[in-house]
Amino acid sequence: TYRKNVPEGTKPVPGPLPLPLIGNLLSLGKNPHLSLTKMSETYGDVLQIQMGTKPVLVLSGLETIRQALLKQGDEFSARPDLFTFRLIGDGQSLTFSHESGEVWRARRRLAHNALKTFSISPSLASSGTTLVEDHISKEAEYLVRKFQQLIEEKGEFDPYRYVVVSVANVICAMCFGKRYSHDDQEFLDLVNLTDEFGAAAASGNPADFIPILQYLPSRTMKNFVDINKKFTAFTQKIVHEHYRTLESNSIRDITDSLIMHSQEKKLDANSNVQLTEKKTVNIVNDLFGAGFDTITTALSWSLMYLVANPEIQEKIQKELDQVIGRERRPKVSDRAQLPYTEAFILEMFRHSSFLPFTIPHCTTTDTVLNGYFIPKNICVLINQWQVNHDPKIWKDPFNFCPERFLNPEGSSVNKIESEKVLIFGLGKRRCLGEAIGRMEVFLFLTTMLQQMEFFKQEGEKLDMSPQYGLTMKHKRCHLTAKLRFPMLATA
Ligand code: HEM
Repeated sequence: TYRKNVPEGTKPVPGPLPLPLIGNLLSLGKNPHLSLTKMSETYGDVLQIQMGTKPVLVLSGLETIRQALLKQGDEFSARPDLFTFRLIGDGQSLTFSHESGEVWRARRRLAHNALKTFSISPSLASSGTTLVEDHISKEAEYLVRKFQQLIEEKGEFDPYRYVVVSVANVICAMCFGKRYSHDDQEFLDLVNLTDEFGAAAASGNPADFIPILQYLPSRTMKNFVDINKKFTAFTQKIVHEHYRTLESNSIRDITDSLIMHSQEKKLDANSNVQLTEKKTVNIVNDLFGAGFDTITTALSWSLMYLVANPEIQEKIQKELDQVIGRERRPKVSDRAQLPYTEAFILEMFRHSSFLPFTIPHCTTTDTVLNGYFIPKNICVLINQWQVNHDPKIWKDPFNFCPERFLNPEGSSVNKIESEKVLIFGLGKRRCLGEAIGRMEVFLFLTTMLQQMEFFKQEGEKLDMSPQYGLTMKHKRCHLTAKLRFPMLATA
């Protein structure tokens, strides 16, 4: 009813008429990011649909999203109280739980500081690099060697299966101070659960909007419960081990630093909330969980674009040969000198838009956006895919063209263009791991491409259609590769 009775001077949010009980769920179809993009062409940047019995606001258009998440950031900074989100991390997740305000802010600050300490601090092993860079370089090197071994043994490999272990090992090193082998079955089982996690946690899961579905047996939801249990059991085991072996004068990793923080029992310096020990230590669950699926998906899409466009792969390799050569490995500090590589990564983020929506937001108060009245506590979807394919912003948005980010001479990336790509969210809930994520995609990719050339297998058709989920993936695809020059001694 508030859609009709809005306060004076404001407009009601437009949107399609809902059906009884199911609302507009049927019109979302298999690919909600596409159907909601289409809908935004009819109703505009601010539209409302009904999912089941609940109203949901859908935001499109870069300027409108910047207005909501940056200029009116506080008003759009909460998370909705969704059934699926309550199943994640014992309902205590920093990322997904409904809890907002001071408690969430204090936890986010803790997560941010812990992450910073164990990522960008100077490396102890080599000068001019950082801790995270050391971890990434080491894992990327192992990965190349693993690929080489697989080619010699079988002639082909499923890159995803190996990339996920390498990437998960980087976040494991920071969070837990340990790494796992590519053949560790317990670890493999765990890191390969993310497809099913993403299917249930995706925006628009009917179980979140039609309460009766929560009580009916469903394989997806049963899997989701099991996955979350497995995941917490895995991290809990490591956390207990850390408690047992903790030495306060030698903080080994993020888990140690969070345990120490929870035991100091001090109020957070910048706020007046006291967090429980569980709420502090559990943060590591979120960091570990967020830290590998996204980056693995980015690298996996990168390889698909590279084998689909061999001329682009060749250009990147030419740039690497010119700037880095073959005698040493890539470093984060090379990034500014590799504009074409950087443009490729931006175009991969834009074109795949593999996080089609941010994680859903929720309003903290009644507000007005672009003249429309928005009530408190409404679930808000941010359509990143729409922004990344908006013909008002991008010329030929469906073409894969890294050059769109370069200046005419090709010597640098245009900053304004690059900031139009929306994949990490914006504002108060913006991704906490963005800097690490960008670094990791860059270093894994350049380390692989410096040494190897990737191909699709003869006669195989590449299926690059994305499968909808929290992160969208392509179907698993076996590739082949060859070394570009004889292996250097381990760098
Ligand atoms: C949240 C993208 C890597 C930690 C998010 C969100 C997106 C995102 C879209 C939701 C933003 C919103 O709701 O508005 C990505 C991408 C990555 C990446 C594309 C890599 C290519 C990482 C890594 C970490 C991380 C490596 C941790 C080390 C988090 C956390 C949140 C988050 C903790 C929740 C923030 C909050 O709710 O306050 N990320 N992410 N992410 N990300 Fe990432």
